[in-house]
Amino acid sequence: MTRLDDLKAKVNLDNLPKHVAIIMDGNGRWAQKRSLPRNFGHQEGMERVIEIVECASQLGIKYLTLYAFSTENWKRPKTEIDGLMKILVLYIRRELDRLHKNNIKLNILGDISKLPELPRKEVIKAIDKTKNNTKMVLNIALNYGGRDEIINGIKDLYKDIEVGKINYDEIDANLFSNYLYTKGQPDPDLVIRPSGELRISNFLLYQIAYSEFWFSDILWPDFKENNLYEAIIDYQNRNRRFGGI
Ligand code: IPE
Ligand code: IPE
Ligand code: MG
Repeated sequence: MTRLDDLKAKVNLDNLPKHVAIIMDGNGRWAQKRSLPRNFGHQEGMERVIEIVECASQLGIKYLTLYAFSTENWKRPKTEIDGLMKILVLYIRRELDRLHKNNIKLNILGDISKLPELPRKEVIKAIDKTKNNTKMVLNIALNYGGRDEIINGIKDLYKDIEVGKINYDEIDANLFSNYLYTKGQPDPDLVIRPSGELRISNFLLYQIAYSEFWFSDILWPDFKENNLYEAIIDYQNRNRRFGGI
């Protein structure tokens, strides 16, 4: 029995997290360790995206969120940003048909109006093609920031109040969640951050109120199916109380 078979036997299919969110971190360090330019790490990271999407959907995860580019990542050198945008286009061109065939719906969390034209067009095409798919929602967080999302949500809510669509008294946590990019989706049950960093880096700030966290020193380009299974099995052994006893 391989390690993966062993993990597959251990996972409880009746208690899967509905929504798994991953901060894909450590690409740069993975490349640096090999004396390669950082973008090689991002390219290798894309291979892991392909594998983990396939693995999660086959396992029966309903929502998978991958943090690909934050509102703060624009601070990086232009060559790195250009490389990341190229990889995004490459990913969609390579994977769109397979995503569609596997009944996966692509959704973006973040403000894509700020992306360069080519990646923006590819993303819009992919969203449109997969919009009626039902097996799994793949959220890619792109130009995403948790604070940005909340502030945009407040602005939209304010507009709806102004035109009389919403009353001030109706505002509660449930209603507000409809003003976020994750509208209509369950909150993440499990948030995974590889690469050894123990922080949230502006990811899904509103939605992670009761998420379980799984941290690991593995760098994202080394993150394999095994690691996803390990995180899910750990999650299944947690006692989630949501403030109760
Ligand atoms: C994550 O890897 C990918 C993005 C943020 C786009 P990093 O590029 O942050 O890799 P490290 O953290 O520098 O190793
Ligand atoms: C978080 O990683 C963003 C993504 C994975 C897209 P960063 O590498 O940008 O986060 P920090 O700077 O280490 O907090
Ligand atoms: Mg990083």
